[in-house]
Amino acid sequence: MRGKLLYEGKGKQLFASDVENELIQIFKDDATAFDGIKHDVIAGKGVLNCAMSTFFFERLHEAGINTHFIRREGKAEMRVKRLSMIPVEVVVRNVAAGSICKRLGLEEGMELDYPLTELFYKSDELHDPLINTEHAELFGWAAREDIIFMRDAALKVNQALSDILTASGIRLIDFKLEFGRANGEILLGDEITPDGCRLWDAKTGQKLDKDVFRRNLGNLPEAYHEVASRLGVSL
Ligand code: TMP
Ligand code: ASP
Repeated sequence: MRGKLLYEGKGKQLFASDVENELIQIFKDDATAFDGIKHDVIAGKGVLNCAMSTFFFERLHEAGINTHFIRREGKAEMRVKRLSMIPVEVVVRNVAAGSICKRLGLEEGMELDYPLTELFYKSDELHDPLINTEHAELFGWAAREDIIFMRDAALKVNQALSDILTASGIRLIDFKLEFGRANGEILLGDEITPDGCRLWDAKTGQKLDKDVFRRNLGNLPEAYHEVASRLGVSL
């Protein structure tokens, strides 16, 4: 029941569906990093990400967090509500890693006293620059109250995901969320997968996320399978 291709990103495609205001989101096997400079096709990654995203969206619904997810409709395919995306990415960090270490000279692995939220302007050409609420408001990307809502929702997501992952021996280091509007409501959109999170084994510190690909640390499907199987996610 797939209609016209409406949008193609680095990791997903969005198609029209048979229902107005519902879209089909397909997870591609492509892996990209550094704004697309590093690219590979990894067989099975789309299915793994669709399965894990489904699992996390379902858990978030149970926790009372509204998302665009409707249901999984194929191995690498889910039905979602059509959103008008807000071009502001919300990152939550529990432990210092990645760009914040470079930006502020922090050591990777430093525990933060409380979860930090950061905002980034979604633009590949500009390499997703860090912004604050004033930028978002001044340039018309999101109103102040929308930013407050997204930050609050992101912290609730952090709590829900941290609880689930901790129970499986995985530390949630950081993650990125994207939100959009539907019928005057802001919903969590995009995906929740190890592509957009940092996940470390609680005992060994082994990386089980896209850093495996970014930094050539080993086999990406193996790491993603490990996360899926610990969570009890069936493919
Ligand atoms: P960063 O350390 O590169 O700022 O990323 C923080 C987390 O957010 C990390 O888990 C990766 C994720 N992220 C994306 O998936 N895409 C993005 O465009 C950005 C800025 C972050
Ligand atoms: N900035 C993200 C990463 O390094 C997304 C991307 O560049 O594709 O993975």
